[in-house]
Amino acid sequence: MGMVKRTLSADDLYATGLRDRWYAVCPSSFVGPGAMKAVTRLGEKWLLFRELDGTLHMLEDRCPHRGAPLSQGLHLGDRIACAYHGVQVDGGGTAVSVPGMPGCKLEGRSVVPSLPVYEAADAIFAFFPSSADSTPSELTLPPTLADPDVSSFLCYAEWDSPWRFAMENLMDPMHGAFLHRESHTMYAGDTAAQFRIRETDRGYLFEKTTQSGVNFDWVEYGFTGADWMELSIPYPPKGGPGGPFGISFMVTPVDERRCVIFAWRTRKSAGWERAVWRFLYKTKIEERHWEVLEQDRRMLEAMAADADQAENLYQHDLGLVRIRRIFQRAARDQAAALAENT
Ligand code: FES
Repeated sequence: MGMVKRTLSADDLYATGLRDRWYAVCPSSFVGPGAMKAVTRLGEKWLLFRELDGTLHMLEDRCPHRGAPLSQGLHLGDRIACAYHGVQVDGGGTAVSVPGMPGCKLEGRSVVPSLPVYEAADAIFAFFPSSADSTPSELTLPPTLADPDVSSFLCYAEWDSPWRFAMENLMDPMHGAFLHRESHTMYAGDTAAQFRIRETDRGYLFEKTTQSGVNFDWVEYGFTGADWMELSIPYPPKGGPGGPFGISFMVTPVDERRCVIFAWRTRKSAGWERAVWRFLYKTKIEERHWEVLEQDRRMLEAMAADADQAENLYQHDLGLVRIRRIFQRAARDQAAALAENT
């Protein structure tokens, strides 16, 4: 279990990510059998490493001896040997061997924080605790992604934008009709609309009251052990057979200025329809979806980090105001609980 070395304030949590929840870390394919990969997530440095049998571990990327990055070390199958003085750390974070001084006190101690990991939908997920006492919650994937009748492709991207901008971008369906107006799935429909919020037991829906089933007309936010957003957009006939095209979306902070995004493109389909869709997606649709994501990335990266300090919001922004309140309240509650326990 990871240890947090200093008490995080509400502002830290809002800037680098709420704790005590699961986040998508990176695609599973980034860490093959026998491989390792260093990542920064929620402002902390971590090392993912996989044993040859596929078992995956996530350790703080810091040697317990003198703090060298373990990611500079050697992968020894079920452990990592630090490059600096050879201390070996296993997947659970125990210093199993100190070759320079066999039998020293460090040997056998569990000293490197590690995170619980889980793999599904082509991605690695990890539980980020607020303190050493945090118990990992259960993770339920976003409902569309968890549906066995749904076929998905994962698009992963790294954006130089605060994670909250990426979340807010999804809670803002109206940008579809402007920023993505050239997109094959968003060309139709009104550019003016009214919205409402509908509460659910896991979050809320933000939807147009004036149009449905035409464009990017609704989005759902939910928390089921992880924060996610889902939306669906009708496919034009040339999108092939199957139901509407969906996106299950997760954002993971890298630090206060950067984030990684996971956009699973989903479609309910079975048998030959699924095969046709998967073929069409790879050959014709994927490139266009990347163009749409790139439009988002360019816009968000161009926005000042304090863009949300001076705004003039209108009715279309109700959805993102709600998501900010949810995250800010959770950050305050989490910071208060942490302060109480120290
Ligand atoms: Fe890693 Fe010394 S810093 S072995």
